[in-house]
Amino acid sequence: MELTASPPRFREGCEAARRAGQVVGFVPTMGALHEGHASLLRRAMDECGFVALSIFVNPLQFGPAEDIAAYPRPLEADLAMADGLGCDLVFAPTEAEIYPRGRPEVTVDPGPLGDLLEGASRPGHFRGVLTVVAKLFNLAGDCRAYFGEKDAQQLALVARMVRDLDFPVEVVPCRTSRQPDGLAISSRNAYLTEEERDAAAVLFEALTAAAGLVRQGERRGDVLRAEMAKRVGAEPSAKLDYVAAVDDATWENVHTLNGPSRALVAARFGKARLIDNVTLPWEPRWSVQNSDAEEDS
Ligand code: PAJ
Repeated sequence: MELTASPPRFREGCEAARRAGQVVGFVPTMGALHEGHASLLRRAMDECGFVALSIFVNPLQFGPAEDIAAYPRPLEADLAMADGLGCDLVFAPTEAEIYPRGRPEVTVDPGPLGDLLEGASRPGHFRGVLTVVAKLFNLAGDCRAYFGEKDAQQLALVARMVRDLDFPVEVVPCRTSRQPDGLAISSRNAYLTEEERDAAAVLFEALTAAAGLVRQGERRGDVLRAEMAKRVGAEPSAKLDYVAAVDDATWENVHTLNGPSRALVAARFGKARLIDNVTLPWEPRWSVQNSDAEEDS
């Protein structure tokens, strides 16, 4: 495994792999690697002849109230994990290598989806994410890039950027890795006390409760959102930020479910702000036109 901090060397490593006829798999991260990142890397290893990992804690996507200095940076352990998984190239640049002239003047506008949900709670966050991802994609070149559904809004925005700006990148969505009690694995879980860690399982419980209601026939978005808010609200150490049940295509909160949709939740537990989401069960035969027909028969 090669380690480089140099953007031109990262670009050259990916180009050399393509010249040798290999498909390049790319997994962008901020390091502090855990099982969620490992699942992305394993999938990339399965599907690509050459796998590159980037580790960069991107200052552009942290708000003024968010403590970027506290973000964990266990580089040695990250490299050991990447090596163990069979990664070919690790790109771990410094801030000066990525932003040599300080904050960039030209940035990527995420469009309207950038202002909803996570974007409303963290103004400027997605502009920071898309700007660094655009830079990383420009260095990696033609590749398959692996992103977790854990950050579903980020994944959707990266996919839109690739589509709208013609990056030669295929975005590959990957399932969320979870602890046995359902808690989504996240570097931020390290900030939780033991009590908060146990309480945090309520996020997945709330999401699965919403999915269960849909399976039982519930279609009203308000009812799904109220159920999730009630469950998170019943947990004393949780401070709810938002619950949502959105249409997968538009990301607008749904009035009545009528197509593939997603339930999302964000809450604070002590120092950690956690997010999670699940797809809501959906079958085409449930669509409004068909259910009208079912009622007639
Ligand atoms: P980071 O939080 O390190 O996450 C890197 C990738 O790992 C993202 O695609 C994220 O969705 C995925 N991931 C995190 N936890 C996961 C889990 N439990 N299961 C599956 N995948 C998981 O997301 C970022 O970094 C940054 O915003 C980045 C895209 C690197 C831009 O700076």
